[in-house]
Amino acid sequence: MSYKRPDHYTKRAKQQGYAARSVFKLEEIDQRHRIFSRGDAVVDLGCAPGSWSRYARKRIADGPLVGVDLSETSGVNGHFLQASVYDIDGDTLLELLGRPADILISDMAPATTGDRFGDHVRQIELAQRARVLATEVLRPGGAVVLEHGAGQGAAVRALLARAGLLGIATRRDLAGRERVTLARR
Ligand SMILES: C[S@@+](CC[C@H](N)C(=O)[O-])C[C@H]1O[C@@H](n2cnc3c(N)ncnc32)[C@H](O)[C@@H]1O
Repeated sequence: MSYKRPDHYTKRAKQQGYAARSVFKLEEIDQRHRIFSRGDAVVDLGCAPGSWSRYARKRIADGPLVGVDLSETSGVNGHFLQASVYDIDGDTLLELLGRPADILISDMAPATTGDRFGDHVRQIELAQRARVLATEVLRPGGAVVLEHGAGQGAAVRALLARAGLLGIATRRDLAGRERVTLARR
């Protein structure tokens, strides 16, 4: 059995009460582009175990927050649906939010199988599903933040642009393994 020593970001995440180090991807792009504001309505796709939602909650204060994941999310104040994004529609999310979303964030990732091409296709399909839901729930001017693999930035920006979501920035994860793309409606 192999043991991977927790790196700096994993330790920092734990110290700050976050379950996953992936929170720093969101924090970094938010600090540069001021994505969240107090009272904003947020949809979080692929929200478990809850680090991005916890960060969003801190930034939006008492704004509405709805998350969707195959796994359970707990410990954050919001509506969390344990379901696949392919089985959830925009109307359900809007009903729970009570108004159009200001921000949709997605850190969804498929379970990796070792088949690199198949995993790449499934990741792009999840980005496509996030785009469809973003066009259904976001207010005009609303922001979408999508996590994706290092080689997928161009494909993700193209699929967002086809729905009129214009890419503003693609940022490298602090550890360099993934990318986060920000676009606006
Ligand atoms: C990297 S984790 C998300 C971490 C989360 N953002 C956090 O900060 O705690 C990726 C998540 O995508 C979810 N996911 C994958 N496919 C999904 C689908 N079809 N519908 C909903 N969630 C999905 C997985 O269950 C997993 O929890």
